[in-house]
Amino acid sequence: MPPSAARSQPSAGRPDVLVLGGGIIGLVTAWRAAGRGLTVAVADPAPGGGAARVAAGMLAAVSELHYGEQTLLGLNLASARRYPEFTRELEEAGGQRIGYRRCGTLAVALDADDRAHLRELHALQIRSGLDSQWLTGRECRRLEPMLAPGVRGGLRVDGDHQVDPRRLASALLVACERAGVDFHRGRAARLTVAGGRATGAELADGTRLSAGQVVLAAGSESGRLAGVPDGVLPPVRPVKGQVLRLRLPKVPAGSPAFLSRTVRAVVRGGPLYLVPRASGELVVGATSEELGWDTTVTAGGVYELLRDAHELVPGITELPLVETCAGLRPGSPDNAPLLGPTELPGLQLACGHFRNGVLLTPVTGDAMAESLVTGSLPDVARPFSPARFSPGIPGPVRTRTPQEQPV
Ligand code: GLY
Repeated sequence: MPPSAARSQPSAGRPDVLVLGGGIIGLVTAWRAAGRGLTVAVADPAPGGGAARVAAGMLAAVSELHYGEQTLLGLNLASARRYPEFTRELEEAGGQRIGYRRCGTLAVALDADDRAHLRELHALQIRSGLDSQWLTGRECRRLEPMLAPGVRGGLRVDGDHQVDPRRLASALLVACERAGVDFHRGRAARLTVAGGRATGAELADGTRLSAGQVVLAAGSESGRLAGVPDGVLPPVRPVKGQVLRLRLPKVPAGSPAFLSRTVRAVVRGGPLYLVPRASGELVVGATSEELGWDTTVTAGGVYELLRDAHELVPGITELPLVETCAGLRPGSPDNAPLLGPTELPGLQLACGHFRNGVLLTPVTGDAMAESLVTGSLPDVARPFSPARFSPGIPGPVRTRTPQEQPV
C-alpha cells in the first residue's frame, strides 16, 4: 500500500507506548506499563501466541545453569523469586490460574559421561551459592520410581518449579484487556522513524500506528523488522524446539503420581525434560535446531524425543500422545535477553530471551515498565541493555570466574 493510502489511527488515540508483539514478553510489558499509568497498545495478529504456546514452562534457574552465564543467573533468580507474588497478582488480574506449581526438579544421569557432566554442574551450582543436592541412583528412584533402573545419580533442585505457559499467556491477555491495553490484530511490518526517533509502526495491512515510545517484543521476529536502523536491529535469531504432549494416567487420591516433579537429563549430548502438570499433561522436550524459520514437526524430532524419554522413563510409551508442536526460541549471541532503551530514541527492546522467556516474564515486565516510565532500567536488568552489542561499548553479559569449568 502506498504511504498516502495508509490508514492512520486518530491522534487522540496515540498511546504512550506501542508494543510490537503480543507473546508473553510483549503482554507482560504492556500489562506492567499500564499498571504504571501509561496508555498502551499492542500490535500482534494473534496475541497470546508465540513461543509460549510450545514452551514447557520450567522455571529452571538452577538446573539450567550454564558455565559462563553467571550474570544471567542473577536475572533468572530474581525472576524466579518474583513468581509467587507475580502469580498472585496475575491470577487476580487475569481471573484464572496459571498452573504455578512448586514441584522441584530432579536432573539425572543415565551413564558415566552424564554423571561426570552432572558432577561438574553440581560443583558450579555450589560455587554459585545455589541449593542443589547430589543423590545416588537409588535415591533418585526412591523419589521417582518410574525412572529407568540404570539411573546413575542425579541432582535434586527443590527450588526449580514450573508454570503452564499457555495459561500464563491467556491470563496476561485478560489482564491487559482489563487494564485498558488496546489491541491491534495485525503484524508489524515496519518501524516508522521520523526526525531521528521511533514514532510507531506500520502493520502488514497498511495501518499506521503512532506512539510516544515503541517496544520491540516480537520474539525471534524481532531481529528482522524492517525500518530498524543498522546497529539498532537486535541480533536475535530463531532456534527451533520440537515438543510433545502426553496424557498422564489418572491415579486414585493418595497413590503416587506417575512423576511428581520435573525430571531432566542430558541424553546423547542434548537436554531432555519431562514436565508433569497438575492438569494431567506431561510435556516432553525439546529439540534445539538452527534451521531458520522452519517450524515443521519432523518424524526424526518426535522419534528422538520419544527414544530419549523412553530411556529415562520407560513407562512413557504407554501414555497417549496428544500433541506434537514446534516453536522458535528467540536466541541471542550470549543467550541473554536484550532489555531497555536502544540508541534510537523512542525505541526500547524486550527480546532475545532464548530458553528463559517463561522464567524471565515477571522480571522483564517490571524492568520494562520502569524503563518506559523513567528512561532507565533497574539495577537488576542493567547488564542486559542492548548497548552491550553496540560497537565500542564494553559490558558483555558473560562473567566468568577463573575457577569455573565448562559443564
Ligand atoms: N528452557 C527449555 C528450552 O528452551 O527447551
